[in-house]
Amino acid sequence: MVERYVMSIDQGTNSTRCILFDHHGRLVSVAQREHQQHFPRPGWVEHDAVEIWRNLQRIMPEALSDAGVGAGEIAAIGIANQRETTVLWDRRTGAPLGRAIVWQDTRTGPLVEGLRDQPGDEFFIERCGLAPSTYFSAPRIRWLFDHVKGLAQRAEDGEVLIGTMESWLIWNLTGGAGGGLHITDVTNASRTMLMNIRTLTWDEELLAFFGVPRPMLPEIRSSAEGYGDADAVLPGVRITAALGDQQAALFGQTCFSPGEAKCTYGTGSFLLLNTGTDVVRSRNGLLTTVAYKIGDQAPVYALEGSIAVTGSLVQWFRDRLGLIGSAPEIETLARTVEDNGGCYIVPAFSGLFAPHWRSDARGVIVGLTSYITKGHLARAVLEATGWQTREVVDAMNADFSVALKQLKVDGGMTADNLLMQFVADVLDVPVVRPMVSETVSLGAAYAAGLAAGYWPDLEVLRRNWHRAGQWLPDMDPERRESEYDNWKRAVERSLGWIKP
Ligand code: G3P
Repeated sequence: MVERYVMSIDQGTNSTRCILFDHHGRLVSVAQREHQQHFPRPGWVEHDAVEIWRNLQRIMPEALSDAGVGAGEIAAIGIANQRETTVLWDRRTGAPLGRAIVWQDTRTGPLVEGLRDQPGDEFFIERCGLAPSTYFSAPRIRWLFDHVKGLAQRAEDGEVLIGTMESWLIWNLTGGAGGGLHITDVTNASRTMLMNIRTLTWDEELLAFFGVPRPMLPEIRSSAEGYGDADAVLPGVRITAALGDQQAALFGQTCFSPGEAKCTYGTGSFLLLNTGTDVVRSRNGLLTTVAYKIGDQAPVYALEGSIAVTGSLVQWFRDRLGLIGSAPEIETLARTVEDNGGCYIVPAFSGLFAPHWRSDARGVIVGLTSYITKGHLARAVLEATGWQTREVVDAMNADFSVALKQLKVDGGMTADNLLMQFVADVLDVPVVRPMVSETVSLGAAYAAGLAAGYWPDLEVLRRNWHRAGQWLPDMDPERRESEYDNWKRAVERSLGWIKP
């Protein structure tokens, strides 16, 4: 039988999706299931890993039947996933030990502040490219060992396995407790604070520092190679790629050359810049991360600016304040006024990520007068995403030899024209959106298809990229800089809100 499609799985923060792509990178069918968000305490965010696995078991056959495609027509499966979210499970039974702790969870705040004092940021950045933050996995493992009796010993004895979501899903897909593969890929491993960013192996010093026993860790593999068959759902169909979702989006946007960058605007937003095969160390609050590694080729690195709250600010505006009925309405409301009326919102709901990395920050609204309407607030909500992007791009331009010339964008918020125009205005570079907006899924499909020989090389993938939208900068430079100055003053006010 002719193999005609690649299956892509995107296990995201809010939902899990399965998409089939054809040779031209065109979307053939989509199946999706949301999972519940658990907030057991302020700042805690958890997911039920079993619920996610069940969702995946449903959507894979659904994506096939919607397109009238048989399993035999699938050339390969690629997986992209929310990064840093960490789950532990029993090696023998396959049952998770508690819920997965999600990347947005801030329970490790005090632990992380301690690490930043001693041994200090440098110790970690030098080894793994990351400064301590509640965002990454290793502090969570330490936290669990400190809070769950007997867990550290069980991990030492090899009874407990740990993984990010791709590890959990690959283990289940390839047989689970009956002999599943316990692996991760270099991009996901680069977000744990446990992998050495140069050798791409688990770092002995970091493992010892966090007290993580080796038997619980997955094997680190490249992002694109034959891993094993997804026998639990589609017998005989091979999984050939896994990447963190933001790295997958970089790949799906075909940012294969140093200096090319993309930003995915979702719940949070993540701007990644390809820096080639060099490890570029940030001096300005960005992360050094692995972008991808195709089989035994050299790894490609990226600088990343992670912004925790962008789309979730719009959700908050809709669900908590009730000022709009649906997310797209924010644009309509914002267009009822000319400008922000002097109002700025800094959405430091879980502290501030790049480039500040301050877990003691909390959200502020500044510039309120009786003149301010909900239209001005809507503008300030959208502009917060633009200004946060500007801060990250400033850091990138300072860290990398080549200044950003254009930004490729994707994700749900790119449907908002007012916002995309604002991003182009405040960055002063063109912003472009591709035809296929599902770049996370597309990137995982591309990596899987390359490994399986479905696509021959990167050039063919580049030719699949077609522009669907473009926004050119159109803002008076003086106004841009004076408003940016206001934004920075607003950020100052959000810092240090939580007292130690
Ligand atoms: O680092 C977190 C990121 O991978 C989450 O992405 O799209 O699932 O919210 P998303």
